[in-house]
Amino acid sequence: MTKVTVIGAGNVGATCANVLAHKDIVNEVVLLDIVGDLAKGKALDSWQQAPIDYYSTKIKGTDNYRDTKNSDVVVITAGVPRKPGMSRDDLISTNARIVKMVTKSVVKYSKKAIIIIVSNPLDVMSLAAWETSGFPASRVFGMAGILDTARYRAFLATALDVSPKDIQALLMGGHGDTMVPLPRYTTVAGIPVTELIGKDELKAIVNRTRKGGGELVGLMGTSAWYAPGAAAAQMVEAILKDEKRVFPVCAYLNGEYGMKGIFLGVPVKLGRKGIEKIIEVKLNKTEMKLMEKSAKHVREVIKTYKGMDI
Ligand code: APR
Repeated sequence: MTKVTVIGAGNVGATCANVLAHKDIVNEVVLLDIVGDLAKGKALDSWQQAPIDYYSTKIKGTDNYRDTKNSDVVVITAGVPRKPGMSRDDLISTNARIVKMVTKSVVKYSKKAIIIIVSNPLDVMSLAAWETSGFPASRVFGMAGILDTARYRAFLATALDVSPKDIQALLMGGHGDTMVPLPRYTTVAGIPVTELIGKDELKAIVNRTRKGGGELVGLMGTSAWYAPGAAAAQMVEAILKDEKRVFPVCAYLNGEYGMKGIFLGVPVKLGRKGIEKIIEVKLNKTEMKLMEKSAKHVREVIKTYKGMDI
């Protein structure tokens, strides 16, 4: 019996639960929200989709943590989303309080769970959840890299008029404007992207990716959910199926890349034990500088968060 809990039945959480159900890889998905009827309604709606889309995964909506007991994986999306004009950092105090409270309740009922954080600002919410959980860092980490990379891949697919399936890429660093793209590790079916696209066009795509979240907030008045929900579900799948997939994940660094005491996006191997290995890519000077800039920004947000005494 496998069980996944998604905390927060809003846009991202409900999408994640629904995508997971469609994958049909888990016996039960529990969707929990502080607004209990919202979770119950969305879970019931998703369950009624099962006969149409052919899946057996049961989906239960609740506002009671007892229902989350013995979850294998817990995805935390609870919080407030970014509104137009609001930076990710503005979200710190509200979301940190929520994430810490939620983590305490999750841990009470699922001592062996793997926790995936989605709430923003991601790098700091991951730290808050990890510190609160008392779990090893291999079992608490954040989802951002898959999403940022997917945005970059989608933009490239449009520019090159090829299938997004064939674009492989790696983005590292913080989730936000200081993310670190690695064009020399971007390929189209193995062909280096630099052979297929001009420097300026690639630069423009990288910049658009950096602001990818903000672009959607501008269009919709709230932050995105389809790709974020699917990205979190993909991480859950890699864990439950022990796939050992290599994804960029917001992970705790303990000396890797010469950094300590910080959550930052790096490539990892994801399997049934959570983060089974942090992969250290050889970065050149320019890339390392960008990583350090990104880390500096995250450290500033951590400082703000620590100063709040939440
Ligand atoms: N416990 C459980 N659920 C909570 C709590 C709590 N303490 N506080 C808030 N929530 C729920 C809200 O009731 C809401 O249903 O979290 C849900 C958040 O959903 P949305 O407002 O739709 O936000 P969403 O777009 O899903 O984004 C959630 O993910 O991508 C990030 O930046 C985004 O931090 C945001 C998070």
